[in-house]
Amino acid sequence: MAGLISIFASILFSNPQKQKLNLEEKFFFNVVGYPDIKKLLSKSIVSKEPIHILLTGPPSSSKTVFLLEMLDSLEDTYYVDAVGASGPGLMQHLFRNDTKYLLIDEIDKMKKSDQAVLLNVMETGILSETKLKNKTSQKKMKLWIFATSNDVERLSGPLRSRFMELHLDEYILEEFIEIARRLLKKQYQLDTAISEKIGYSVWNKMKSKDIRDVIKIAKLVKTSSDVDWLIEVQNKYRKKNSRMT
Ligand SMILES: Nc1ncnc2c1ncn2[C@@H]1O[C@H](COP(=O)(O)OP(=O)(O)OP(=O)(O)O)[C@@H](O)[C@H]1O
Ligand SMILES: [Mg+2]
Repeated sequence: MAGLISIFASILFSNPQKQKLNLEEKFFFNVVGYPDIKKLLSKSIVSKEPIHILLTGPPSSSKTVFLLEMLDSLEDTYYVDAVGASGPGLMQHLFRNDTKYLLIDEIDKMKKSDQAVLLNVMETGILSETKLKNKTSQKKMKLWIFATSNDVERLSGPLRSRFMELHLDEYILEEFIEIARRLLKKQYQLDTAISEKIGYSVWNKMKSKDIRDVIKIAKLVKTSSDVDWLIEVQNKYRKKNSRMT
């Protein structure tokens, strides 16, 4: 209970703009759109019993941003970028700390043996590790796991079945422009007209649906004609067939 109260308190007092928002908007303040996913994740965060959620989807669909927002808003979290993370390091952290929310980015990149470590704790709440001379350490814990993955096929069947899977689809044009508008205003103080121009130009002229392309351009523009020029140069020097259409 004390944990929950501190979650609400930390969210409430961290940013005055957040105060009038509902719970899911507070947890995921920097994610544009996905109201239903925000609601489902918020319910999971405050649920009495652990639940494990896997966000899947194409690059730049905000999977990592969702995890980082949780890292920012919640206490007792541990964030793991599975690229390069080690299973023993994760186990050591879980044994030594009272982690409640484990956030694993790109879980499919985790070694198979490390993925296996998670199976038991997800199912039974018992963290178990066999050490030298077959000595086993155990710890009972309530652990919620929120993970992301581009390629769910790389996960073992048993691990995948322990997650509730939510697939984020590629953005449609309206969503893409809305994200460009909101993101560029907030992060780069660009006005609506120029943000929209970047969004439409990336989508229509670069044939890219990747918000990261919008951000790259936003970092370099000052005027509307800068946008045209940057798109032109990028198109000129782009390797053929490097974009989805
Ligand atoms: N819905 C969104 N709201 C806010 N920012 C977004 C949204 N979608 C994408 N972005 C922006 O796009 C960039 C990429 O997002 P993110 O890193 O979350 O993608 P990802 O789904 O984790 O991609 P990858 O599979 O390549 O890791 C970030 O800078 C993020 O701010
Ligand atoms: Mg990511």
